[in-house]
Amino acid sequence: MIIAIDGSAASGKGTLARGLAAYLGFDYLDTGALYRAIALSLLNAGADINYINEKQAVKEAALLDLELTQSPEIRNDRIASLASKVAALGPVRAELLKLQRTFALTPPQGGGAVLDGRDIGTIVLPNADLKFFIDADIDIRAERRTKELLQSGQSVMFSDVLTEMKARDERDRTRSVAPLKASDNAITIDTSSMDEAEVLALALSHVDSAFSPKQ
Ligand code: DC
Repeated sequence: MIIAIDGSAASGKGTLARGLAAYLGFDYLDTGALYRAIALSLLNAGADINYINEKQAVKEAALLDLELTQSPEIRNDRIASLASKVAALGPVRAELLKLQRTFALTPPQGGGAVLDGRDIGTIVLPNADLKFFIDADIDIRAERRTKELLQSGQSVMFSDVLTEMKARDERDRTRSVAPLKASDNAITIDTSSMDEAEVLALALSHVDSAFSPKQ
């Protein structure tokens, strides 16, 4: 069983994906971490943050050290912004397709898989068994992200986080390759006025109705 979750930054899609995977005993792949890891490896290789060399980005994607996806260093707004620019490059996305599909079809524990990102239900896994599209009001998302970054010890201001998030949303939604959008058969959840437990309970009710035997 494969569950695809797409959505905007800080919409709660990662929390939902982790919650569903833990509850169902499925493996989880955070595909945003792949793009963030490519951004970090570019910076580690001395790349100029204002000029992305497509060839170099494709090379970093092909040789990606998956350990980098676990690094706390990928969780800052500078990397998020660079990841979103790297993610707009078609050849970089193509390089990551196989890895994501292999994970979904042959998850490490041999059971089901939950993947979250921007194009999972539309491009990576159009035949996923269940698809969610998660969104929330931009001010609420920026507030959540500010809190998260402050809690992780980074010094940030709400207004800067909001500006960066607006720019990233715009880039992710309007790029020509695999833009962020809901797949036709995705279930949309607006998490603006919901807490994590409510979102998980709602998603689980959809999992139940999708997978319980029909009378
Ligand atoms: O989900 P995130 O914030 O960690 O993602 C970082 C960036 O990576 C995001 O701005 C867009 C890009 N991304 C993407 O284009 N496609 C995905 N499947 C996942 C992330």
